[in-house]
Amino acid sequence: MNDHEITDVPSTLDTIRQETERVGFTLGSEPKTGALLRALAASKPGGQFLELGTGTGVGTAWLLSGMDAGSHLVSIDSDAKVSDIARRNLGHDPRVTFHLGDGGEFLRKATPQQFDFIYADAWPGKFSHLDGALSLLKIGGIYFIDDLLPQPSWPEGHATKVPVLIADLERRRGFVATKLAWASGLMILVRTRAV
Ligand SMILES: C[S@@+](CC[C@H](N)C(=O)[O-])C[C@H]1O[C@@H](n2cnc3c(N)ncnc32)[C@H](O)[C@@H]1O
Repeated sequence: MNDHEITDVPSTLDTIRQETERVGFTLGSEPKTGALLRALAASKPGGQFLELGTGTGVGTAWLLSGMDAGSHLVSIDSDAKVSDIARRNLGHDPRVTFHLGDGGEFLRKATPQQFDFIYADAWPGKFSHLDGALSLLKIGGIYFIDDLLPQPSWPEGHATKVPVLIADLERRRGFVATKLAWASGLMILVRTRAV
């Protein structure tokens, strides 16, 4: 098995990748992560999805390619320059709503237990506002994060924060957690009960 061979890549990704390179954005999700996002998205028919950190829409495109017609995705980013690329390329899809704003602010105002899937790919919802993000998951809902293996994009001092986050997530009651030292380093939590 060659898991580098990712088949059936969403057609929107070609243009998104070109525009991503043009603006010099280097934080887009990698193909393996995208393929897993798509498979997990397909496990939630009629699901409510949240992506914290739209970037240029790479993860968004993968999520949309796994979601069925009755599912909906809210994707948030605070940077108009990158999220405009996502909006231009994916905004025609009625299953996605893009928000420009602070993810932490969104999490503070959101109603608990409303999402089936959260891709937490920004600081808020991962290194801050973690309780808030996890409280939004329905029972059976999936919390997904990446970039847990050392990345060139990590800022100074970040390496010490990652093991703290992983240990915190593994200790959480009411969730089943698993780690994958694969792609950029992934972690998946599934909510098993209200806490
Ligand atoms: C790792 S990138 C997201 C990549 C994207 N999910 C993908 O799949 O390609 C992180 C994004 O979080 C955004 N971000 C950083 N701080 C934020 C905040 N406080 N609220 C919302 N978005 C934020 C950045 O602008 C950046 O686009």
